[in-house]
Amino acid sequence: MRKKIVAGNWKMNMDLAEGLKFAGSIEKYFKESPSEKVLVILCPPFIHLAGMADILKHGKVALGAQNCAAEASGAYTGEVSAWMIKSTGAQYVIIGHSERRSYYHEDDKLLNKKTLLAINSGLKVIFCCGEVLKEREAAQHFLIVRRQLEEGLFSLTAEQMDMIVIAYEPVWAIGTGLTASPDQAQEMHKYIRELVKEKYGNDCAKKLPILYGGSCKPSNAAEIFSKPDVDGGLIGGAALKKEDFTAIVEAI
Ligand code: PGA
Repeated sequence: MRKKIVAGNWKMNMDLAEGLKFAGSIEKYFKESPSEKVLVILCPPFIHLAGMADILKHGKVALGAQNCAAEASGAYTGEVSAWMIKSTGAQYVIIGHSERRSYYHEDDKLLNKKTLLAINSGLKVIFCCGEVLKEREAAQHFLIVRRQLEEGLFSLTAEQMDMIVIAYEPVWAIGTGLTASPDQAQEMHKYIRELVKEKYGNDCAKKLPILYGGSCKPSNAAEIFSKPDVDGGLIGGAALKKEDFTAIVEAI
């Protein structure tokens, strides 16, 4: 059976004290009501990572970053490398989020480089893909996602694919209140799994977790997660409220 995952992407929210306090309350919640079937991952800003690694050391909740540098080390002012992230105790990194693609012009080639660096540093990668509204309206969504995966991910070996979680996030659904319907999510997740099967074979495709992201909330999570190819969610806004985030985890 594939692993079920709910990852919270805090984006650029919460200062250090707020973040550590919030992480502590999430950790406490899952210590008291363990979610055996679901892997919970928190992805805060870089500055929270080391402190949170300490808070989450009981292993009920995993830790990830939201981005990493495209170089291993050196004179890259302001950047944080995958290896540095790993050294904090984090196990995951999100790569290719649509906000990185659009605001920071990260293209497929760069994202491929980051993905390889992250894997080589021992981090698992939550690799994001998804189309913008115009592309969906022009019925190009399958083509776009295919390109993002082929160019961003498919240079990996089958062994390296064990380090990957894919997150399908239709950009038109991120932070907008619009959600892909459960059928739209299932259709794309199934397509992604087929692409992985074509490239890496059935075993790899069957064990690959594919998460949905985009305005996921307690009221729609159960229905989206009930689809056979949806293995959990990457949660933005609703990950900032304990009741919402824990309810989404419980929806699985
Ligand atoms: P949202 O964000 O849940 O606020 O739509 C999801 C994401 O950007 O990962």
